[in-house]
Amino acid sequence: MKDVMKILIINGPNLNNLGKRDPKQYGSVTLSDIEQRVVEKARSLGVDVDFFQSNHEGAIIDYIQSSSSKAAGVVINAGAITHYGLSLRDALSDADLPIMEVHLSNIHAREKFRHRSVVAPIAIGQIAGLGWRGYLYALEFLSAYLDEENRM
Ligand code: DQA
Repeated sequence: MKDVMKILIINGPNLNNLGKRDPKQYGSVTLSDIEQRVVEKARSLGVDVDFFQSNHEGAIIDYIQSSSSKAAGVVINAGAITHYGLSLRDALSDADLPIMEVHLSNIHAREKFRHRSVVAPIAIGQIAGLGWRGYLYALEFLSAYLDEENRM
């Protein structure tokens, strides 16, 4: 039997506080609500997901280094690390997996420092401003993208 594809869903600093954090930007759902919705979506797509959240860039890098060999792709919302985290970007690049970048808020409509993403140049694409649904769209896209790659 073919192995089920595993997709890593990674969240960076302060995303553990969703629900309490600036609801105008981030909505009122918690990270565990998002996880549940992502798990349901993954089930319907027939893919496996593995979640990781940390407030520490190094911990996220450790997770990527130890999990990437068993994964087919990455969905990442790196929080503020997105805007400056070159070690995280290197770890993602070394993992050599297709990446979808997600932000709950529209980072391009916010402060200037949020417009730059060091992850974007190594990602297939970026979803920003669609709230929690962005994770589902990213997963759906990645699953279709990987299916197509596997057929070629
Ligand atoms: C965020 C946007 C970042 O600028 C911010 O630092 C976050 C959340 C988002 O999901 O909209 O922590 O990644």
